Amino acid sequence: MLTNIQETANSLSLLERKLLPHLKEQTTVSELVASSGLQEVEVGRALMWLGNRDIVSTQISEKELVVLFENGQLASKFGLPEFRILKSLTSGPKTISELESDTLPRPEIMACIGILKSKQAANIEKVNGDMQLSITPAGNILIQNNLYEPQHFFDKYTTFPLDFLALNEKEREIVFELSKRKLMVKVETQKTTNVTLQPLGKELIAANVDFSNVEEQLTDTMLKDGSWKEKTFRTYDVRSPVPRVAVSGRRHPAREANNIIRDIYLQMGFQEMSGPWVETCFWCMDSMWIPQDHPARDVQDTFFIGKEGDLPNPELVEKVKAVHETGGNTGSTGYQKPWDPNLAKQLILRTHSTATSFRYLNDLGNKDGKYFYVANVFRNEAVDTTHLAEFVQAEGFVIGDNLTLSDLMGFIKEFYARLGITKIRFKPTYNPYTEPSLEAHYYDEKKGKWYALINSGIFRPESLAPYGIKKTVIAWGMGASRVAALLNSKNNLRELVGPTVSFDWIANHKTPIPKLSEENNDSASRQPTAGVGTDEGGDY
Ligand code: PHE
Repeated sequence: MLTNIQETANSLSLLERKLLPHLKEQTTVSELVASSGLQEVEVGRALMWLGNRDIVSTQISEKELVVLFENGQLASKFGLPEFRILKSLTSGPKTISELESDTLPRPEIMACIGILKSKQAANIEKVNGDMQLSITPAGNILIQNNLYEPQHFFDKYTTFPLDFLALNEKEREIVFELSKRKLMVKVETQKTTNVTLQPLGKELIAANVDFSNVEEQLTDTMLKDGSWKEKTFRTYDVRSPVPRVAVSGRRHPAREANNIIRDIYLQMGFQEMSGPWVETCFWCMDSMWIPQDHPARDVQDTFFIGKEGDLPNPELVEKVKAVHETGGNTGSTGYQKPWDPNLAKQLILRTHSTATSFRYLNDLGNKDGKYFYVANVFRNEAVDTTHLAEFVQAEGFVIGDNLTLSDLMGFIKEFYARLGITKIRFKPTYNPYTEPSLEAHYYDEKKGKWYALINSGIFRPESLAPYGIKKTVIAWGMGASRVAALLNSKNNLRELVGPTVSFDWIANHKTPIPKLSEENNDSASRQPTAGVGTDEGGDY
């Protein structure tokens, strides 16, 4: 809180300054609205800010008020209609037409007949086709002795609204009865916000600060003509209390999910890779034998940086060129088209982490190893519930001898099991750089649907030839963002990452760590074991 009065004054906003002269020891919001000419919301806002600075305090009080409606106002002015009818009957019976007037309309008379009959104060009979009302002896007594209590109420109280709680029991009962009648009276709760000036507010008002020179905003004109030098600007009150939003920092659930994936890879003996987010097309596409006319090279699918990067050593580039154009010495025919090094130089946001896998394979050569990467990747896609322009991929590969499709399937099964997923199926697919290629789908019990989570395969000879790799490489990429959604029971990626995520959720939610069931726990039989182990990898 600010202590210096001038400092406090300079930090007041325009609304607060406008309200200040209208504050009194004790006042209400409606009084302030009336005296300041501000709107109720503006007064409310200004009071909230003034309250935050301890200049005022507010308390809400409630009052039960008796208010009059249309028929109530008539009754207040002319007397209750049944009472007026009864009174007029003292001079002799009357037909409804005779009773009817501006202040006693027919429907009102009809309603009163019921009331009078229930009190046995009047009789009704048909005379010459019209209804005729006459007063009974009981009715006469009511009038002569002035015993009709509801009328007493209107005789006693002439100004409304009335404080309901100030009425006696009898009067409250009458109000209750009257409130059942159409458009007569009602008891309403009225809320009043009382405003009490606090010591700081009193000091502030006593100081009689002149605000005429305080500017709300620095404008370009003030900057240009230098007039800002002479002005006093409203200061920010950086000490003004604000609601606490979080007690402490914590890891985002999507990151927790990445760490769960990382842990599973580490437990399975894989080593972590890392690589650049901005890649050349060479490493992202050409290095693995993706043809130069592949749709992924299109701006529709890929974010191009608009700059060129460096190609690796000329020998490697030459080998990649050969395998693209003619198949090199792999026995393949290649794409039978000229390979353009300029396309390979283009810089892009990497579209998959396989770019990094190939950088590692290039360095590894024929050394066995198991590698993984939890990587941010980017695709220029239409955003929907399961696609964002940026997502996380968890890539991995195993290089070794005698690896087969069973090893690949075994690895995938094991990985899924460690995520708590056991119902999976495989489907053949196509990648330019793997043959055979497999998609692994899992069954989402809650949604009753199959989802593709892993794309995988065995790298083709054409993709490995430039690096002189004679071994087998089984490899896969999985949608880690999807895993994060799955572990956190979210259907929509936008509830997990990005600006639409609930802040409360991020602050309080912890990603549940999947539990391995006994049934899934025979990992040894499923892990790819063919000659590869943690300690046999490269020295990265
Ligand atoms: N790069 C593939 C993708 O982005 C995944 C993959 C990696 C497939 C390695 C096969 C081998 O979907």
